[in-house]
Amino acid sequence: MPPLGPRRQPSRRGSMADVPDDLLDQIKELEKIFSLEKDKLIQVTDHFVKELDKGLSVEGGSIPMNPTWVMGFPDGNETGTFLALDMGGTNLRVCEVILLEEKGEYDIIQSKYRMPSELRTGESDELWEYIADCIQQFIEYHHEVENLAELDTIPIGFTFSFPATQEYIDHGVLQRWTKGFDIKGVEGQDVVPLFEAALAKRKLPVKLSALINDTTGTLIASAYTDSSMKIGCIFGTGCNAAYMENCGSVPKITDYNLPPDMPIAINCEYGAFDNENVVLPRTKYDVIIDNDSPRPGQQAFEKMIAGLYLGEIFRLVLVDIHDNKNCNFFSGQDISKLRDAYTLDASFLSDIENDPFENLQETGDIFKQELGITAQKPELELIRRLAELIGTRAARLSACGPAAICKKKNITTCHVGADGSVFNKYPHFKARGAVALREILGWEKGQKDMVNIVSAEDGSGVGAALIAALTIKRVKEGNLAGIKNAERQA
Ligand code: GLC
Repeated sequence: MPPLGPRRQPSRRGSMADVPDDLLDQIKELEKIFSLEKDKLIQVTDHFVKELDKGLSVEGGSIPMNPTWVMGFPDGNETGTFLALDMGGTNLRVCEVILLEEKGEYDIIQSKYRMPSELRTGESDELWEYIADCIQQFIEYHHEVENLAELDTIPIGFTFSFPATQEYIDHGVLQRWTKGFDIKGVEGQDVVPLFEAALAKRKLPVKLSALINDTTGTLIASAYTDSSMKIGCIFGTGCNAAYMENCGSVPKITDYNLPPDMPIAINCEYGAFDNENVVLPRTKYDVIIDNDSPRPGQQAFEKMIAGLYLGEIFRLVLVDIHDNKNCNFFSGQDISKLRDAYTLDASFLSDIENDPFENLQETGDIFKQELGITAQKPELELIRRLAELIGTRAARLSACGPAAICKKKNITTCHVGADGSVFNKYPHFKARGAVALREILGWEKGQKDMVNIVSAEDGSGVGAALIAALTIKRVKEGNLAGIKNAERQA
């Protein structure tokens, strides 16, 4: 192995010295289009606040602001055994959660199943069959019984991380697929009967208690252990948040005549923020991502910041610079692999940003291994800067969501529980987001962070179980608001 050179210093100003003018011009242009100053972040956030309000109104707006029928937080005394199914992005996960007698304690066992990528764009039946198969495998593996009929029926909380209109907690009409999913015949349908039919076919001893969103699960699971938790966020394959509203502040549910001070969790679905293209500084690459996606015009905010798209934005820029006749970039190299859409994911960018070496050796290695491209040092400098710009834009824009909820609700201090691959794994994402929050919310220099985005508890496992438990408890207490099948829940 050749020597790797000294470890890279955080400041890389000197490193551009050898970069020729054509590439330097490109870097300057990229800095211009991908950077977001404080004023822009504030402008985005202020528009966001208005759009959150619009989503709660009777007329509605492009942010769905879906009432979830999760009516308040757990008090730590919930007990029982629950299944949780998590379908949201890359994997499918089945958990069994036992909420214990000791306040706030639980045990969990879980299995992950890879979600074959063909399923994301396949047929509806295949999806539900696959899900039911995974649940069956899980039960057979963890409960060694000859006959599934011997088991008591177990309530399940189903984390379905897509926008769904819920008139009840045990019901949910898919508004539209997001995150690249495009399964025919499901949009506009209640997914609960589709799910239940597949369970019934296998005679599985499982009954659905609640259909939930990952953000709502995150909010509830995190608030279970930390009472200052006011928002649950996902920064992963997609991006979104949930928070508690008072029923009286949600004009679109006025007809339900609920007590105005009764809490209800709202799944914002704010990946759809600015679909109208009013305020977000979209680049030509964002426009291409949108046009080539299964749902153009939808999820404008999400497409600029979520894990599914970061690698693709990066790829589009590199191909564009290569094809620019005025630039010498990957000249004479075969870039056919780089021309494949969605060939790079966010972990590719993470690896580049994590490269600790001054000579960007690791970045060079992954370009060679993954794409068959030998990148020269000046090209590696551009690549590294581009990854930083895309990662920083994502983190800074991401902060506008929780900031807008805080502004809207006049929350001056709280914890925000966050989960998802980008939050947990992308280098510097947390620190960059925290800086942006400080700029948007205008804390004094030296003042400690008033709103902290921290790692969440397991929302689609423990959160889903807690919501199932809360729903069953409500049935027992006769608080049936937003529960369709109370008999089955009892
Ligand atoms: C997408 C989904 C949303 C989910 C988010 C994070 O935005 O529409 O329901 O919460 O991804 O998984």
